[in-house]
Amino acid sequence: MISSRRRRIKESKQLQNNEFYTLYEDIAAELPNYKEFLKGKRIICPCDCDEFTKAQIVYSNGKIISFNNTLIKSNFIKYLIKHAKEYKIKSISVSGFDPNTNKGIRFQDLDYSKYDIVITNPPFSQFREFVEILLKNKMQFLVIGPQNALTYKDFFQHIQNNEIWIGYHFHMSGFALPNGTIIGRRDNRARSCCWYTNLEVQTRHEEIVLTAKYSPEKYPSYYNFDGIDIKDSRKIPCDYDGYMGVPITFMQKYNPDQFELIGLGSPIEKKFIHKKDGAQIHYIDKKTNEIVYSFPFSLRERKIGNLLRVQNKDGTPGNAPFGRIIIRNKKVNKE
Ligand SMILES: C[S@@+](CC[C@H](N)C(=O)[O-])C[C@H]1O[C@@H](n2cnc3c(N)ncnc32)[C@H](O)[C@@H]1O
Repeated sequence: MISSRRRRIKESKQLQNNEFYTLYEDIAAELPNYKEFLKGKRIICPCDCDEFTKAQIVYSNGKIISFNNTLIKSNFIKYLIKHAKEYKIKSISVSGFDPNTNKGIRFQDLDYSKYDIVITNPPFSQFREFVEILLKNKMQFLVIGPQNALTYKDFFQHIQNNEIWIGYHFHMSGFALPNGTIIGRRDNRARSCCWYTNLEVQTRHEEIVLTAKYSPEKYPSYYNFDGIDIKDSRKIPCDYDGYMGVPITFMQKYNPDQFELIGLGSPIEKKFIHKKDGAQIHYIDKKTNEIVYSFPFSLRERKIGNLLRVQNKDGTPGNAPFGRIIIRNKKVNKE
């Protein structure tokens, strides 16, 4: 039987095949939050129809220009056309590209100066490039992407710089596959995708109410980094003013006025580094160059290597927690 961890990894890899179509209900849950920002705007959905060699205008100034249900299968277009008058949208255009037939127009080749806002679910394998193009063209956008992008160094930097943030929903309720099968909210491929935007999102100005208090017994320190490990973002202590490593799910509640994003757990500079020496791995103090601890060179040690590691009770390097983001509380309350 396939383990749930292996299944999750397999499903996340499948996201790379790009053909996951957005459900109408997910669009209908997210888009109304941005109604006021769509007013008077020219919208492009650039990964939504590969029939044309140019982007097609399907709606302009109160009129549907061309809308053929058999050609335009995208639920983004269906939703936007339905609400165009109510939202006072100026125009809606659509384009797309099919790598199998080379038909259509690639998002890389669009003239973005003709549009104000990009709304789509792009191919996940090109997500990083897609976001870079949007930022380079100074576009406003609302797009679906893998949560995992938060752990990409370059993408995270945009989050840190306050250029991109999470929308109102951190999970999709499902996707449609090309054969028409619907995968539901329990499927990891839907659960592990969220909305990203640079349009204003109300909830990111709400503070997380912190009730837990710090104690060294409850919160293990890291062995090789000056900070503590928090397994569950709901347990962030209100009175701790140092660095804290939290799971990436924290980002759905992240408020830039309340927390500072220091960096990702993996590339962060460590106090101790490891070096293999014959049958042993030595943990070496970076400053003094002294060996602080040695382990037999096992498969586990080789795999974990110099990742962020929790410190065991006896002071030895312990487990490497999965995907941490390092944060600092800007509003510490020690009362
Ligand atoms: C994740 S699917 C989503 C489709 C649609 N936006 C939706 O949400 O239902 C991404 C689509 O982008 C298409 N695509 C792949 N490379 C592309 C490119 N360079 N430019 C535009 N579209 C591309 C894929 O073929 C795929 O149909």
